[in-house]
Amino acid sequence: MDLTEPSEATTLSGTGQPKQLYLLFFAEMWERFSFYGMKALLIAYMVSQLHYDDPKAYAILGSYAALVYTMPMFGGFMADRFIGFQRSVMFGGILMTLGHFILAVPYDWSFFYGMAFIICGNGFFKPNISSLVGTLYSENDPRRDSGFSIFYMGINIGAAIGGALCAYVGTKINWHYGFGLAGIFMAIGFIVFVFGKKSLGNRGLPPSMEVLKKPVFAFLKPEHLIYGGTLLIVPLVVTLFNQYYLMDYIMFGLGVISLVYVLSVGLKMEKEVKLKLFAALTMIIFSIVFWAVYEQNAGSMNLLAERNSKMMLFGIELPALSVNNFLPPGWVIVLTLIVAPLWPWLNKRGKEPSTPLKFALSFIFLGIAFFVFYLGCRANLDTGIIPLWPFLWGYCFLILGELCLSPIGLSMVTKLSPPKMVALMMGIWFFASAIGEFMAAKIGSLMSVPEDILAKNDPVLSLPYYADVIIKIGIASTVIGVLLIFTVPFLKRWMGNVK
Ligand code: PHE
Repeated sequence: MDLTEPSEATTLSGTGQPKQLYLLFFAEMWERFSFYGMKALLIAYMVSQLHYDDPKAYAILGSYAALVYTMPMFGGFMADRFIGFQRSVMFGGILMTLGHFILAVPYDWSFFYGMAFIICGNGFFKPNISSLVGTLYSENDPRRDSGFSIFYMGINIGAAIGGALCAYVGTKINWHYGFGLAGIFMAIGFIVFVFGKKSLGNRGLPPSMEVLKKPVFAFLKPEHLIYGGTLLIVPLVVTLFNQYYLMDYIMFGLGVISLVYVLSVGLKMEKEVKLKLFAALTMIIFSIVFWAVYEQNAGSMNLLAERNSKMMLFGIELPALSVNNFLPPGWVIVLTLIVAPLWPWLNKRGKEPSTPLKFALSFIFLGIAFFVFYLGCRANLDTGIIPLWPFLWGYCFLILGELCLSPIGLSMVTKLSPPKMVALMMGIWFFASAIGEFMAAKIGSLMSVPEDILAKNDPVLSLPYYADVIIKIGIASTVIGVLLIFTVPFLKRWMGNVK
């Protein structure tokens, strides 16, 4: 990490980073506050307020999470081709703010509409604010990596406070106040961006104003069509929520299309480029499995925390839903400080693990995390109530896994993809997490507690439903990690000169 570059006119004294980084940092921090604040409430709200049974709640959560990370492919494409990053972030910010406030409306109909607006808004906001960070640095600027690390901190600070606060307000005061609080902070993020965006100058402007403003149909310009077209997606998404079984076909279809497309383009390339692309693709496929396990956090673990835990700290009972959503981003903040400098330190000694080995390690950490969760269940089968420690330490390992995969995967995609395919492969990286989140809900659904058991309101009866699947997840993750270790030499050979 190099934070000591000399300050120029545009740098913020003390850090050497462009001052615009802090604009994007705060806008993204408040956006993630609202995004994760709302996600913390989602499944608990469905089962306790909308009275969905567990399988339906998991299916809707999975559809939401899948769509929210599929839309960035669309939003990223529109920004690249037509409206640029700045307009995309503005448009996405407006849709997300609207979505959060719609969720605050205390009627059942508002639920699907609110989520649909957030899905469309996130598609424009999330990928393009990250791309804006990229525009602050020239290709070889040494501040680039540390800039992204600072930005990732912003994401997790927002996620930690948002998850804890919205879950608290939602469960202890009023669910819709919880959603509304998320809305207020999304609006703050948006306002930060609006007031600060002048400082971005011409970074992230549309590639061609002429194309954007030239009427294509009567007085309608491409810009109008993109905004209007996106608004038309909203009712479509609502329909999908109502017919959520269709999501299986959609995710499967999109997955197959992406894979066939990349393979067909890749097969035509020369050997070296092809092998690198295949290495990237193999790791992307493993990342799907990683997210499918990791994202139990927003589904089954939220229900486990709500129904089967009592978390005491120094004699005070902590709000379980808040803790379950605070801990993962909280650990990211703490552990990044250790893990980020660890890689260069190991590198200097010639001992830095390769990217495929880091991927394998991430699965081993997942395995350990789920063993810790399982031990927590196992030790408390007689009361059915789990204390704080399995959550605290289980998430510590889960996040060590995240740090071996998420930032590493992003840079791996940029390094292994042929230059012309980087943007597409980035979209596919996000899409892989969408499939992963969709699968996560399917796995979560295996932990569904039947209605008649729930009606008895006895945690001793419900805990085994979680424990039985949690141990299987732990074993499966460890086995995959070990298998991955065996593939490391092959993947390294495919990667050629890329480390
Ligand atoms: N938690 C991070 C974020 O919200 C990284 C992440 C992105 C994780 C997308 C999963 C999917 O930005």
